[in-house]
Amino acid sequence: MDSCSTSISHFRVSANSFLSRYEPLALLLVPLLSLLLAHSLRSFLRRLSEKGLKATLLGFIMNAVKLVPGVKGYIDAEKQKVVDKLQSDSQSKRVGWTTELPSTGLGTSVLEKMREEKMNDPVWQGKCSGTVYIGGSESDGHFSVINEACSMFAHTNPLHLDVFKSVARFEAEVVAMTAALLGSKEISSGGQICGNMTSGGTESILLAVKSSRDYMKSKKGIARPEMIIPLSGHSAYDKAAQYFNIKLWRAPVDKNFKADVKAIRRHINKNTILIVGSAPGFPHGIIDPIEELGHLASSFGICFHVDLCLGGFVLPFARELGYPIPPFDFSVKGVSSISVDVHKYGLAPKGTSVVLYRNHEIRKVRQCFTQNAYGSN
Ligand SMILES: Cc1ncc(COP(=O)(O)O)c(C=O)c1O
Repeated sequence: MDSCSTSISHFRVSANSFLSRYEPLALLLVPLLSLLLAHSLRSFLRRLSEKGLKATLLGFIMNAVKLVPGVKGYIDAEKQKVVDKLQSDSQSKRVGWTTELPSTGLGTSVLEKMREEKMNDPVWQGKCSGTVYIGGSESDGHFSVINEACSMFAHTNPLHLDVFKSVARFEAEVVAMTAALLGSKEISSGGQICGNMTSGGTESILLAVKSSRDYMKSKKGIARPEMIIPLSGHSAYDKAAQYFNIKLWRAPVDKNFKADVKAIRRHINKNTILIVGSAPGFPHGIIDPIEELGHLASSFGICFHVDLCLGGFVLPFARELGYPIPPFDFSVKGVSSISVDVHKYGLAPKGTSVVLYRNHEIRKVRQCFTQNAYGSN
C-alpha cells in the first residue's frame, strides 16, 4: 500500500469511529436540515436586498400569520369573492354583445350603430386627466384637422417605403424636429441623434430598453442584465423587464418624490445595463435629477434613458418661456436614449410617440417592433 491509500484508510477508520457515536437518523437529518436552513437564509437575504427590511419583515409576518389554521383558507375565500364579483360584473355588461358574424351584413348602418354605442361612453372631455390629452369637439379646430389627416393615411403600410413615400418622409421629419427640440443641434449631443416613431410611450420605452440591453451585451458582454428605475417610473419598464428578461430594481424616491441618485447607485453592479429618470414622472409630475443621473451613468459606462413621454413637448417651450427648467435632454452627458410622446397634449391622437438614440451604435442593435425606422439625420 502506498502512503496515499494508507492515509485514506486511516482517515476512514477514524471518521467512522467518530461518527459511530451518533444515531444514523441524526446523521441523515442534520445535513438535510442544514441545507434547508442555508436555502432559507439565502432567500431571506436575497429578499432583503431586493425589497428592503420593512417589506421583508411584513412578508415574513404575513406568511407566519397564514400558518395559523384557517387563516389561509379565509384569505383565499375572501380573494375569490372579489374575483367572482369582478367577473360577474364584467359578464353582466356583455349581455347582448355580438359574438358571431351576423348572417346578413349591416352595410353602412354599422356606422349609426357605432355612433349609438359611443354615446354610452362616459364624458371624457376635460374630465380625464392622464387619459385623453386633447380637448374640444371632434368636428372643430385642431381636433378635426388631426382626424382628417389620420383618415387620409389610414390605409397605409409604411413597411413599403417605395409605395408610401409620403409617410416615410413625414416620419423622418417628425423624428428630426423632435430631436432638434431635444438638443440634437447642440455640439454636446454628438450630432448623431437618430430614432423612429412608435405606437406610444410604452412602445418607445420597450424599444429603448431592448436597444440598451443588446448594446450593453455587445459592448460589455452582459448576459444577465439588470436595470434600475425610481419607484416613480412608469409601469412600461415592468413590461420591458418581463418581455426582455431583465432584472428590474425599483429604487426609492427622496422626500420630494424625486429619483434618489444614491439609492440608484446602491443597486448598480456588473450586470447593470440601464438606469432611468423621468422628466416628469407619471405619478407625481416631478422632474428627476437628470444631470446627476447622467453623471452616474457615464461614470459606470451604462445606458441612461430619459422618459420624456409626458414632458418632451412641454419642457422645451416652458424653458423658452423663462421657467427654471433643469437640464433634461441630449445636452446632458450620459443620456443614451429618450422617449417622447407626440400624442400627449393633443398634438396627435393616441398612439404616436418618438424614440431617440444618442447615436447609431446604440440604435443599430435594436430589432424593430414597428414597421418603420428612420434616422433623423
Ligand atoms: C412618464 C410616462 N412614461 C410613459 C408613459 C406611457 O405612455 P403610453 O400610455 O403612451 O404608452 C406615460 C403615459 O402617460 C408617462 O406619463
